[in-house]
Amino acid sequence: MSLLEVRKLHVTYGAGARAVPAVRGVDLSVAAGQKLGVAGESGCGKSTLALALLRLLPASARLTGEILLDGEDVLTMKWGRLRAVRWAGASIVFQGAMHSLNAVHRIGEQIAEPILLHHRTTPAEAKKRVAGLLQQVGLPAARADAYPHELSGGQRQRVMIAMALACDPRLIVADEPTTALDVMIQAQILRLIEQLVAEQDISLLMISHDLAVLAETCDRLAVMYAGRVVEEGPARAVYDAARHPYGQALSAAFPRIGDPLSRRSPRGLAGDPPDPSDLPGGCTFHPRCPVALDACAEDDQVLAGAGHRAACVHAARSQS
Ligand SMILES: Nc1ncnc2c1ncn2[C@@H]1O[C@H](COP(=O)(O)OP(=O)(O)O)[C@@H](O)[C@H]1O
Ligand SMILES: [Mg+2]
Repeated sequence: MSLLEVRKLHVTYGAGARAVPAVRGVDLSVAAGQKLGVAGESGCGKSTLALALLRLLPASARLTGEILLDGEDVLTMKWGRLRAVRWAGASIVFQGAMHSLNAVHRIGEQIAEPILLHHRTTPAEAKKRVAGLLQQVGLPAARADAYPHELSGGQRQRVMIAMALACDPRLIVADEPTTALDVMIQAQILRLIEQLVAEQDISLLMISHDLAVLAETCDRLAVMYAGRVVEEGPARAVYDAARHPYGQALSAAFPRIGDPLSRRSPRGLAGDPPDPSDLPGGCTFHPRCPVALDACAEDDQVLAGAGHRAACVHAARSQS
């Protein structure tokens, strides 16, 4: 059994005519110590998936399916159990740390909060732990006294990572952890996350719109489109030889580091992902797909293949 096993997850915001089906039947698994990347353009349901994993969605969201963390379903957990699982079982790093940190509290207090809540330790012990965590993420222990606005964007993201590590989670969910940062700092933060999860044998579910970033960091990749996983497989295979036209477009859209050719001619993708409350029939990607057949407007596809799977009629044909 994997550490995280998501089965037939559906998340719909609101109800009736204005219902937004943001996640539509996602199956995923992350083995202990494994790093799974989830890619897709804005609006494809990635953050909804991330928030669902710890039941952090607004009350308007209705969830069905299973989210098994170490075999236990997060969706049916009692509140007390869920509180214990948050931070210690799995913790989350969001994009844009400024919004996740409390502006009026020193960062040391904020990192200590989950430690005090979960370990019933003394404030002095917690303080020591905070100093250790800050060092692990490459910040001087004295920065514990700083307020969020006194730190740079990169430093704030390091604080978020320290918080995520505070209760020794088995899984870290990182939702666009570097998107708001400039390229140099982005690379540093990615290296830090990679190093920490490897050292501490933590599983990682990392979300990004940038397939190149994920391919560099993760073991496996899942590509989401319109609330579904349309391609999934080993990271290098998905990045270098995508089987779904959407995966192909994403991997072409982001320049390979150090490859001047791909930088000059990224094959862009016209248009935007569909509005979830107004999805096209058939394959939801067909209106933007460069290789769509007439039948794609009628026939929906499911993930097919072994190891490296894609939900595309072309991939299904080349498999058989
Ligand atoms: N709280 C919400 N209420 C209603 N719709 C939402 C809410 N949050 C997100 N959505 C919608 O759900 C869809 C998926 O959004 P999101 O999960 O944020 O995608 P991503 O992270 O891939 O950009 C989008 O159409 C978005 O507008
Ligand atoms: Mg998002």
